[in-house]
Amino acid sequence: MRKPVLAANWKMNHGPSDARAFMRTFLARYARHTDRSVIVFPPAVSLGEMVAATKERPDILLGIQNIHWEDKGAFTGEISAPMARDAGARVVLVGHSERRHVFGEKDDETRRKCAAAARAGLRPMLCVGERLEERRAGETERVVLRQLHAGLADLDPAHMAQMLIAYEPVWAIGTGQTAEPRDASAVHVLIRGALDQLAGDRAVEIPILYGGSVNTGNAAALLAAPDVDGLLVGGASLDPEGWATIART
Ligand code: PGA
Repeated sequence: MRKPVLAANWKMNHGPSDARAFMRTFLARYARHTDRSVIVFPPAVSLGEMVAATKERPDILLGIQNIHWEDKGAFTGEISAPMARDAGARVVLVGHSERRHVFGEKDDETRRKCAAAARAGLRPMLCVGERLEERRAGETERVVLRQLHAGLADLDPAHMAQMLIAYEPVWAIGTGQTAEPRDASAVHVLIRGALDQLAGDRAVEIPILYGGSVNTGNAAALLAAPDVDGLLVGGASLDPEGWATIART
């Protein structure tokens, strides 16, 4: 059985001091639960504080929001997978819609980043999702499957089994417009079917999270939807009380 995964993507919020204050409140409100996984993706500069804050709480996994696909070299401003792992990250977001649509990241880069993460022992959380015009044009399936195949292209089934997938329809991210649980489910079922083909027996180990305007009011219904194994939460994860409520869902 897959455990539900509750993941917080802080994006470019909560530097080291804010992260420390956040964790004081959050850890007081969220007791250890063994029936779920909680992951937080802070900005990279806050990872050190987060490692210190979670020393007594190994149930909280830390992630990094982006990596470069090379292990080292002349790439000013970039962070590699082995460095992120050394700094305490265990998971990495790959292909988040803001990386794709604000920074122009292409499928080929997500492929290389997933492979780099796997090499370094970081679990990639590959984000896939269609834009509003693509949904309206009936292209959701084509876009999501293309992104999925690209991200997994260089991985063998053993590495695929370490992955997490996040379905995040672009039109739902940060807009307050959440997918209906049944619409999210329909895409999750599609992704599950593709994973079965790509990863064979190991596919059952891969959780598929939903993301896009998740909040304390809609988290339970989304999590209860068929084939939704977890939630990736942006805006609503920035408040420690709210995030504790969602993590307890
Ligand atoms: P949101 O962001 O919850 O603010 O919509 C989700 C995400 O981008 O992962």
